[in-house]
Amino acid sequence: MKGHELDLFCVPKHYENDLDKVIIPHGLIMDRTERLARDIIRDMGGHHIVALCVLKGGYTFFADLLDYIKALNQNSDKSVPLTVDFIRVKSYCNDKSTNSVKVIGGDELSNLSGKNVLIVEDIVETGRTMETLLSLLSECNPKMVKVVSLLVKRTPRSSGYRPDYIGFEVPDAFLVGYALDYNEYFRDLSHICILNDQAKEKYKV
Ligand code: IMP
Ligand code: MG
Repeated sequence: MKGHELDLFCVPKHYENDLDKVIIPHGLIMDRTERLARDIIRDMGGHHIVALCVLKGGYTFFADLLDYIKALNQNSDKSVPLTVDFIRVKSYCNDKSTNSVKVIGGDELSNLSGKNVLIVEDIVETGRTMETLLSLLSECNPKMVKVVSLLVKRTPRSSGYRPDYIGFEVPDAFLVGYALDYNEYFRDLSHICILNDQAKEKYKV
């Protein structure tokens, strides 16, 4: 995945000098998400699904994925009830994963007892966030837990954890856009892009 030159696409003026390459254009994200929805329904269909959005980075992918699942549900002979739940997790400061994974806010996880849970995440890097979340969830005795992550980073820092469904494997760079942020910036960018070093300084906290 080498990426595309920035000037081939429309990006907000306020981010023009902050980005290196467009790694995954918005249209490609949508097409891949449509197929992920089909695979998920194939495996989890027939049972009530609770889709659990990992905030904040997961919210755009979550909304788009659920739209595709709803489209499948209303256009086929088989359909499954779908309810939603939200959890907030924070593990990043600047462009570094911190060792502590904090769960802040979200609904009562005990509501997930006996349910088929689909965790929807934006990106898996070390795998620590997801491993922490999965162990928290298992205490609530869900019937089934599957994880879909739009992105998985190819990195030596990985714990080896692999989600059940993966949108794209991406290079070991800091990515922003499509709700992935750098200190809360770049969620308002449609394409997934590589952040340049200058921008890492500019938006540092
Ligand atoms: P992990 O615990 O190292 O797997 O990191 C997962 C979390 O770190 C994700 O849910 C993201 O919120 C954040 N993260 C990891 N890599 C990136 C990135 O390249 N851009 C933005 N956020 C990232
Ligand atoms: Mg995340």
